[in-house]
Amino acid sequence: MKKTILAGILIMVLVLPGCSEAEPPASGLVDSNGKKNILIVYLTRTKNTEAVAKMIQQQVGGKLVSLELQNPYPENYQAIVQQVQNENETGYLPPLKTNIDSINTYDVVFVGFPTWGMRLPPPMKTFLNQYDLSGKTVAPFNTNAGYGLGSSLETIEQLCPNSSITEAFSVRGGIERDGILFVMEGDRAVQVKEEVDSWLQRIGF
Ligand SMILES: Cc1cc2nc3c(=O)[nH]c(=O)nc-3n(C[C@H](O)[C@H](O)[C@H](O)COP(=O)(O)O)c2cc1C
Repeated sequence: MKKTILAGILIMVLVLPGCSEAEPPASGLVDSNGKKNILIVYLTRTKNTEAVAKMIQQQVGGKLVSLELQNPYPENYQAIVQQVQNENETGYLPPLKTNIDSINTYDVVFVGFPTWGMRLPPPMKTFLNQYDLSGKTVAPFNTNAGYGLGSSLETIEQLCPNSSITEAFSVRGGIERDGILFVMEGDRAVQVKEEVDSWLQRIGF
């Protein structure tokens, strides 16, 4: 009898803690409202937008995905400016090499991009066109040469009609035209990280 009671207690001690809490999702992350599954998708050329993506990940966790193209853009600045302008004029959507598994499993998608030609870059249009973000929170973030977002947010709104779009984050990055490429280091990185953190707080993380 004594042995049976002892065995019972042992079983309760071993089994109960496992039952008391649901397992968090594999890449489940915590925001102020509970657990969210977060994806951080970004396009970058000179790595400024990537640096911001990593700052966001440091704060909220989530899976980082860099958008890569089947046919990469030219290295030369004038050549890429010309190509992007042609793509914008014709509405061409460059095919992505990147494939995102199980987009349905994410609650929040951070969408990061540089301003190109005062618009949303064509590869980000491809992404938003290809993946259905209905019912998800979409959080846009951006770097630019000092001229802002242009029409990027309007395009995101058009391509994500059934998503809840947060306030966007936008910050000055490089000025490739003037040979200024990566700037997210030293004091500038510290300053941008503070701006990113307070934006994340404002939008509920
Ligand atoms: C093709 C191209 C077009 C650009 N057009 C603009 C623009 O219209 N306005 C602007 O402020 N910056 C423009 N830029 C500068 C980038 O937005 C800026 O350098 C940004 O920080 C780059 O991000 P990345 O380092 O993640 O590639 C352009 C850069 C490229 C390569």
